Amino acid sequence: MIKTICVCGAGTMGSGIAQVAAQSGFSTILFDVNGEMLEKSRTNIQKNFHVQISRNKLSAVESSAILSSLIFTNNIKDCSADIIIEAIVEKLDAKVELFNHLAVTNNPETIFATNTSSLSITDIAGRVTYSTQVVGMHFFNPAPVMKLVEVVKGRQTSGEVVKEVYELAKQLGKTPVLCKDAPGFIVNRIARPYYLEALRLIELGVTDIETIDKVLEAAGFRMGPFKVMDMIGMDVNYNVSSIVWKALGEPDRLTTSPIQKAKLDAGELGRKTGKGFYDYSK
Ligand SMILES: NC(=O)c1ccc[n+]([C@@H]2O[C@H](COP(=O)([O-])OP(=O)(O)OC[C@H]3O[C@@H](n4cnc5c(N)ncnc54)[C@H](O)[C@@H]3O)[C@@H](O)[C@H]2O)c1
Repeated sequence: MIKTICVCGAGTMGSGIAQVAAQSGFSTILFDVNGEMLEKSRTNIQKNFHVQISRNKLSAVESSAILSSLIFTNNIKDCSADIIIEAIVEKLDAKVELFNHLAVTNNPETIFATNTSSLSITDIAGRVTYSTQVVGMHFFNPAPVMKLVEVVKGRQTSGEVVKEVYELAKQLGKTPVLCKDAPGFIVNRIARPYYLEALRLIELGVTDIETIDKVLEAAGFRMGPFKVMDMIGMDVNYNVSSIVWKALGEPDRLTTSPIQKAKLDAGELGRKTGKGFYDYSK
């Protein structure tokens, strides 16, 4: 039975996942190599709790109890738990290195879940110590709000691990769906053309980003593609596009966009840097 959760990476996703875990009653550890990111995460979670208190969804007493059950750490030796949920940078080598490091301080029963958006679960599992324990647990942004979690079975993942992670997602108040390991899983595979076709229209000078966002919002999407890319982060979204494109044999229709690459090179990563397609600094 899962009682302790260690979330690795305190960025956009890890911070939200740790909030959900702690708020669902799990004793939770949030690890990041970067102390500033841990502080930023603590502030964000406190802010989110203040909003919930102001809406009478949480009491001040509950808020401080949850915060005290949540350990923020930059010491990897603290990362021992029933399940590791990693949400670090979207790079295969980094994720493999982290899991192998954590294999030493954990045990063969620990579940090694990855929040990867696009890397192959089978590839990660193939390079780590406890490969049958590796599973995809793909949350959506913002993690405290979005209900969907894709539970992804790699070739080596044991059926028991899939079952446990599926049940855990439900205990976290999420709606899990099962999925086999495939480039982009379900949502990111379907979403690639949504972002890329919008970027193509800008490359061709057909219209501007505000109009595209407005049109798609009028058509029923909660947010237009440029607002979503700014929320996801240009670095993450660009990486996911590149990985899915390569994994599918580099089809022309999914070629990454030079506009997005230019934003990435300029450090305009979206909300997290204060500027992306839109300006958030004011
Ligand atoms: N941003 C999204 O909308 C979104 C949605 C679903 C899944 N994801 C996936 O979640 C993961 C994280 O994405 P994000 O947007 O939160 O990234 P982010 O850039 O906001 O945060 C990543 C964090 O990981 C930390 N980090 C990097 N290497 C580390 C290491 N070796 N050990 C510990 N911490 C480390 C960084 O300091 C940073 O705080 C990626 O795999 C991404 O594909 C992202």
